[in-house]
Amino acid sequence: MNILLLGSGGREHAFAWKIVQSPLCAKLFVAPGNAGTADIAENVAIAATDFKAIHQFILSHSVELVVVGPEEPLVKGLVDYLHSQPETNKIPIVGPSQLGATLEGSKDFSKRFMLRNQVPTAAYETFTAEQIEEGLAYLETQSLPIVLKADGLAAGKGVLICQTLEEAKESLKEMLLEAKFGDASSKVVVEEFLTGIELSVFVATDGKSYKILPEAKDYKRIGEGDTGLNTGGMGAVSPVIFADKAFMKKVEELVVKPTISGLEKEKIDFKGFLFIGLMNKDGEPFVIEYNVRMGDPETEAVLPRIESDFVELLLGIGTGTLEDYDLRISSQYATTVVMVSGGYPGSYEKGFPISFPESSQNSVIFHAGTARNSSNEIVNQGGRVIAVTGLGDTLDEALESAFSTVGKISWNKAYFRKDIGQDILKLMN
Ligand code: AMP
Ligand code: GLY
Repeated sequence: MNILLLGSGGREHAFAWKIVQSPLCAKLFVAPGNAGTADIAENVAIAATDFKAIHQFILSHSVELVVVGPEEPLVKGLVDYLHSQPETNKIPIVGPSQLGATLEGSKDFSKRFMLRNQVPTAAYETFTAEQIEEGLAYLETQSLPIVLKADGLAAGKGVLICQTLEEAKESLKEMLLEAKFGDASSKVVVEEFLTGIELSVFVATDGKSYKILPEAKDYKRIGEGDTGLNTGGMGAVSPVIFADKAFMKKVEELVVKPTISGLEKEKIDFKGFLFIGLMNKDGEPFVIEYNVRMGDPETEAVLPRIESDFVELLLGIGTGTLEDYDLRISSQYATTVVMVSGGYPGSYEKGFPISFPESSQNSVIFHAGTARNSSNEIVNQGGRVIAVTGLGDTLDEALESAFSTVGKISWNKAYFRKDIGQDILKLMN
C-alpha cells in the first residue's frame, strides 16, 4: 500500500525507517520530511498542517494509510477534516480526532478527564484572568515548589516550576494578565509538585484495544547532570530499569486501562499513539501529562526494539483491529543520543555541512533538523539535528555503540550530552 507520513523530525525518520522495512509498504511519502527520510522514501513539500494539500495528495497518489507524527495537525483537527471529506471519509489514519487530541492541547481538559476516570495525577486547580484573585489566594495555601502550566500548546515551554511564593504569584500574573505564552496561558493549571523518577510510557490504541510499547526515559535538559534549559529531548534509553514488571503492571491497571475505557465511555475517537508522561513516586504511578503522539527522541529508542511488523501495527490502529496484533519486543537495549546545533535551545547558526561515517555498527543514524543545500551537502537546519540509536545486549554495550557512531559525526559547533544513560547505569550497580 501507499503510505503518507506527516512530520519532519527524528521521530518521523524512525517511523519511516521502520515502515519501509515492512513488506506491506509499496511506497512511502513523507510530508515534509528531512534529508534522512529523503534517502529511504519520497519527500513531499507539503506542511503537516496544510489540510487541503494533504487531502489532494491522498487522492492523486492513491494513499491508503495516513500516519501523523506531530501533535499540531491533530490538535488543529486534521483527522476530522479528512473524515468529513467524501473521498477520504474511510481512510485509516494513525492519529486521534480533534477531541482526542485535546488531551494534549488543553491541560485543563486532560486533568478533568483524569479525575472523571480515576487516573492518578497531581492535585490541581485551574484559573482564568477573571479568577486571578482566587488564583493568588490559592497559591498562598499550597506547599512549595508549585507547578504552573499554560493550558494550551506552548512549544514545550509552558510549564514553570516555582520555588518561592513570590515567583509563583509573579508568574501566575504574567501568564494570565500579560499573556506570557500568548493564548495558551489564558487558562493556567496550578498543580502540586510531584517528586520521583520520570518515565515515558507509550500506548498504541484503536480506541478499544491497546498495546503497551516499550517504555523509555527521556533526558530533557541541555546540560549534563540534568542542568540548564529544557529542550525537546537530548537522549533516551529503553528499557528503563526502575520500570520493573510490578511497576508496569500498576501502570497498566491504574493508568492505561482507565484511560482507554474512559475514551470509549466518553465517545472520544482515539486511534493513535498515546504517550503518557508518568512520575514513579515511591513505586506508585502518577500521570504528569498525556501527549497524543509518540515522543521524540523516545521513538528513536522504542521503535528499533519492536520486532513485529510495524505497518501491521499502524493498520491495526487505523482500522480498529489492534486486538488481533501480536506485538513482539526485543530484549535488547536501545540508547539514543541527540546531537544539536551549538547554541540550542537558544539561537544557533544553520547551514554547516555534516560529515557522516561510512558505516555505523550496531547503531542507526536518524536525521531530525537536516536538509540538503544547493551543493547537495547535508547541513544542519534545526536545533536537534541527528539522533543516533545504539543497540546492545546490555545498557553499556548500547551506549558504547551509540557514542562510537556519534564520535564519527561532526559539523561546526555540534553538541551532545555525554552522560545519557549514566544515571540508569548507576541505579543498576
Ligand atoms: P510538560 O510540558 O507537561 O511535559 O512538563 C514539563 C516537565 O515539567 C515534565 O516533564 C516534568 O519534568 C515537569 N513537571 C510537570 N508537572 C510536574 C509536576 N506536577 N511535578 C513535578 N514535575 C512536573
Ligand atoms: N521527548 C518529549 C516529547 O516528545 O514531548
